[in-house]
Amino acid sequence: MDDLRDKYISLIANAADEATLEDLRVQAVGKKGEISLQMRELGKMSAEERQVAGPKLNALKDEINSALAAKKQGLADAALDERLRAEWMDVTLPARHRRVGTIHPVSQVTEEVTAIFADMGFAVAEGPQVESDWFNFDALNIPGHHPARAEMDTFYTHRAPGDDRPPHVLRTHTSPVQIRTMQDQGAPLRVIAPGRVYRADYDQTHTPMFHQIEGLAIDKDISMANLKWVLEEFVKAFFEVDDVELRFRASHFPFTEPSAEVDIRCSWEGGTLKVGEGDDWLEILGSGMVHPKVLQAGNIDPDEWQGFAFGMGIDRIAMLKYGIPDLRAFFDSDLRWLRHYGFASLDVPTLHGGLSR
Ligand code: DAH
Repeated sequence: MDDLRDKYISLIANAADEATLEDLRVQAVGKKGEISLQMRELGKMSAEERQVAGPKLNALKDEINSALAAKKQGLADAALDERLRAEWMDVTLPARHRRVGTIHPVSQVTEEVTAIFADMGFAVAEGPQVESDWFNFDALNIPGHHPARAEMDTFYTHRAPGDDRPPHVLRTHTSPVQIRTMQDQGAPLRVIAPGRVYRADYDQTHTPMFHQIEGLAIDKDISMANLKWVLEEFVKAFFEVDDVELRFRASHFPFTEPSAEVDIRCSWEGGTLKVGEGDDWLEILGSGMVHPKVLQAGNIDPDEWQGFAFGMGIDRIAMLKYGIPDLRAFFDSDLRWLRHYGFASLDVPTLHGGLSR
């Protein structure tokens, strides 16, 4: 019995793989294995002999079985160690984002602008794209005869024959959201309103549908100085530069008084735009102090409250920041264009994580 034990314990210890172990198991404790055959011999023994040999054989069988199990576990552990040593993966590689598509530059820039203004306490407001002409024009101090109505190349909806009410329009700017937000929320307030707007115009820098972002801040003592600071902070964050010079040019909008168009200092070295330095100026938005009549249309008392507003083209600042030449391509749904100018779908712009990278 001791010879059997020594033989199998050393064979098991030296087994190189699971198949060898299985062979050994069959040879030793399988139905016709050596130890099983010995157990059969027990029947031929005297009672005294059996009392000694029986427990010994059982113990031997147990010992062989546990040696087999331990060796099997040892082989499995060694195999896993070997795999862990050989297989590796670089988890710092960028995710593959092609399969789930890319984020359109307009969506990307809208998210970037929203993140920047959210940091300054501006909430996002919305309004309908099919708008009444009162919200789109009258409430913004653009009466029926005003040239601004004609200039805007407005799309009008049809009324049924005999219906004399004024037609709805596709909103020509995001400014009507100012009125809706004032009516809904009252003062004080701080909102931006990104969205689609429509004008009948089409060339390299105009499409009949495009995107604007409106800003509105109403409070007790708001001045042009606040407007200037907010816009400077915005432009620095958006173009991801440390310093930038803004130029406020006196202008005219019916819904603001005074009004200013804002340019940023830039250069066009070798055809690429550099913001913050150079001898050129680039217009990026219209702005001003909200006209008292506009506050009134929003049910806000102009003797008590005042505010600033601004409006800029999202597509335009997207073209500038990312060097995209033709606006029309934005809306062609050309997959090659989308893959080239699109953004990683899981890379949401935040101020702490980086806007564009
Ligand atoms: N609504 C103007 C446009 O579409 C842009 C604009 C100018 C918005 C001045 C404003 C503003 O809020 O104060 O051209």
